[in-house]
Amino acid sequence: MLRESAGHALTTTSIQRRPITKTSAAVAVVGCGYWGSKHVRVLSGLPSVSQVFAVDANSQTRDQMKTAFPNATVAPDLAGVLRFVDGVIVATPPHNHVEVAALALRAGKSVLIEKPITTSLRDAQRLVRIGKRNGAAVVAGHTYEFNPIVHDLRRRIVAGEFGEIRYLHSERLNLGLYRTDVNVIWDLAPHDISIMNFLLNETPRSVRAWGVSCAGGNMIDVAHFQLEYPENGIVGTGFNSWTDPRRVRQLTIVGSKKMAVFDDVAEEKLKIFDHSVKLQTIPVTRSAVAIDLPAATYNRGDVIIPKIDYEEPLHIEDRKFVEGLLNPSRDSTQTHSGVEVVRVLEAIDLSIATGKPVLVKNRGAVPVH
Ligand SMILES: NC(=O)c1ccc[n+]([C@@H]2O[C@H](COP(=O)([O-])OP(=O)(O)OC[C@H]3O[C@@H](n4cnc5c(N)ncnc54)[C@H](O)[C@@H]3O)[C@@H](O)[C@H]2O)c1
Repeated sequence: MLRESAGHALTTTSIQRRPITKTSAAVAVVGCGYWGSKHVRVLSGLPSVSQVFAVDANSQTRDQMKTAFPNATVAPDLAGVLRFVDGVIVATPPHNHVEVAALALRAGKSVLIEKPITTSLRDAQRLVRIGKRNGAAVVAGHTYEFNPIVHDLRRRIVAGEFGEIRYLHSERLNLGLYRTDVNVIWDLAPHDISIMNFLLNETPRSVRAWGVSCAGGNMIDVAHFQLEYPENGIVGTGFNSWTDPRRVRQLTIVGSKKMAVFDDVAEEKLKIFDHSVKLQTIPVTRSAVAIDLPAATYNRGDVIIPKIDYEEPLHIEDRKFVEGLLNPSRDSTQTHSGVEVVRVLEAIDLSIATGKPVLVKNRGAVPVH
């Protein structure tokens, strides 16, 4: 068993790597705070993982990892354990994802990087290039893309169950936690954007956004954004806040035939509404003048709570990442998703800064004059 000796940094010479079989891999989680510790938990229970390295710069966090996961190997930095692992999960704060991921990729190790994969489009593209050069994959930790409920919704959209999609609306609100390296959009909106891109199978053409710093200082802590998708001009809207009294994780889909609400903090997470509204104009003659009057017809049918076989999304995400390590030839579409989300985040920032709509171009955000 590998351990950090008391009071000393782990040295590479003290490490004996367990034999890697065709069916298992050694994985390092770098950053074992709130979210990284969940990766350590999930990986520790995967039969396809031979060894988990819990890497954290903070000695108290390392102590907590040792106690909570006695079978994991604890280390203070990635460099010291890199040659003993097959893949790396980057769960440090967003501003140093690029540095940690680049170190792993240069050593030919595939990475799963937590959202947002980087804090700039340039860095995201740079990581993809480094990965390609070294034969290593860059996978985005967009947890909702592994969520069985989101997959169920996409299946229903593709099957036409909702009819024409009128709009999507996503809310992600809570009181804190304030991050110091990214604003509320880069913290929370990666989920909203990745879900919408995944459901519609495309990326937005343009973005409009508004954001303010409610609690003082310069950090934007409340934001609204609107994403316009090219196909049929579908609009997705989002609301993110670190200053809301409620904890909300909710997506609404409104279609011409049916509607849905995915509430990730509710017990009954998905509800499908056999509800719709149709607006027609009826020609009438008033005082010898012909006019068109709007007339709405409403359908208020059943509300269904579908049964969905649920597996923890993080479990699916990590399992698939490890499968990719064991079958490296398998192409990862996740890279595309990570870069596209960062591209939209930059466009949202620019729209807030300029107060104008912004085109989301292949090369980055461009303000609409
Ligand atoms: N997918 C999700 O649903 C989800 C949820 C929450 C957070 N996240 C993401 O996970 C990442 C981490 O967030 P968090 O809330 O766990 O942060 P956190 O502050 O709780 O933990 C970060 C940890 O990284 C360690 N660290 C920092 N730099 C390091 C380095 N160079 N080497 C080793 N350790 C280092 C810190 O000591 C700390 O323990 C962020 O990118 C965040 O956006 C994702």
